[in-house]
Amino acid sequence: MSPQIVELRANDRPFADLPERMLNGEIFVIRNCLQEIGQFDELVGMTYDGISDLFGNATSQRIREVGIEKIHKVLGAGDIPKLTEAIYEIAARRCFSFLRIFIDEVMMQSNRFYFERKANVRFHLPYDCISEQAQLFESYVKRLGPGKITPHSPHRDSWVNHPSNAVNVWIAAGTIKSGNSLIIFPDAYRRNLRRTGMYLNKEENPGVGVTFTMNPGDVLLFNADHLHSSEINSTDCTRHVISFRLTFEKPNYRYGHFYRYAHSAFAGGLLDKFADVPQNIAWSYIRFRTVNPIKHHTKRIVKQLAVLVGIEIRQRARPGTYGLNIADDGASDNKTQIQGHDVLMREIKPISRSVCVARTENNQVRAFSRYCPHNGADLSLGTILNGKIMCPWHNLPIDLETGFSPCESLKKLEIYSGTINDK
Ligand code: FES
Ligand SMILES: [Fe+2]
Repeated sequence: MSPQIVELRANDRPFADLPERMLNGEIFVIRNCLQEIGQFDELVGMTYDGISDLFGNATSQRIREVGIEKIHKVLGAGDIPKLTEAIYEIAARRCFSFLRIFIDEVMMQSNRFYFERKANVRFHLPYDCISEQAQLFESYVKRLGPGKITPHSPHRDSWVNHPSNAVNVWIAAGTIKSGNSLIIFPDAYRRNLRRTGMYLNKEENPGVGVTFTMNPGDVLLFNADHLHSSEINSTDCTRHVISFRLTFEKPNYRYGHFYRYAHSAFAGGLLDKFADVPQNIAWSYIRFRTVNPIKHHTKRIVKQLAVLVGIEIRQRARPGTYGLNIADDGASDNKTQIQGHDVLMREIKPISRSVCVARTENNQVRAFSRYCPHNGADLSLGTILNGKIMCPWHNLPIDLETGFSPCESLKKLEIYSGTINDK
């Protein structure tokens, strides 16, 4: 059975059983949460302090007036990477005091927890704005990783080395609407899934994704081991989120201790510099410090030897390198015969390596390229909604009449005009 999604109202708190329920896969949305616990101004204050520091008080005031969702109308897209970094620094300093109050107030957990030292600051501008500054955004992603200012593809946080028992505290600092939200794939929870690097293998079916509409101050809580991704921002509003990760028990690192999760009993006081020590009193840490370097050096030596004797070692495919093999099996020419009668309403069928066929709600059968023009996800795993194919990875809605999506800077999807036998 899929994990449940539960809506809570903050004034019904405390919710003392949330830690255990989250680890069992339940997903919670707590409405009006930060306002009820008196932390809303503190959270959005981080953003406006960052804006004031970089661009001055007048700009900060102007953005307050138009709303954070329209920040891209006041600042240029090119200003967003450095603003994100400025807020990161402010949020890292205030992270613990905020979480202490949040945990006490919402879950009544006076007991201890471990928390990631830095908060995550996320600005997702409308996709066409970031395409204008593609190089700048790409270099930010290379340094600081995806998901902050660019859409994340389906992943589990443990695949990027976070503890498998971590919980995401994902807070709407502005309005979040359909088309710029987070996607969680509840059916994939605890399922064995293949991945390529940090992302889901493109042949794996993530199941139907769930998205969330949220008002500023609403909080989404979910186990970071849920498969999740970002919607490509197909709206005209910026989505702004500040999120934190924490664990209620010792962090369980599956792949390596790459992160600093501080123990709340030591953080913030005289012993703060020792607060990272408790997470490392574990076999996984000893293994990480001993076996990993040996593996790393062995690999390096093997590579160097291979170069010396002239052997080519093939790299594993990296995410984002999937090619668009539109014409690789000759199925894309106009003579393709497509049998439409065995495609059910809203069903999508792959009919070759590169072509899908689907029947829309108004009984139109359409044949189209199997690979999404954004990042090459397999559209045969998508869904049909209002005559559009919704990409399984980032929910891009693509019109099956025209091949266009709301993101004008993306290429149009190839719609084939071959003969379709729809009897
Ligand atoms: S919307 Fe990103 S791969 Fe399709
Ligand atoms: Fe994530």
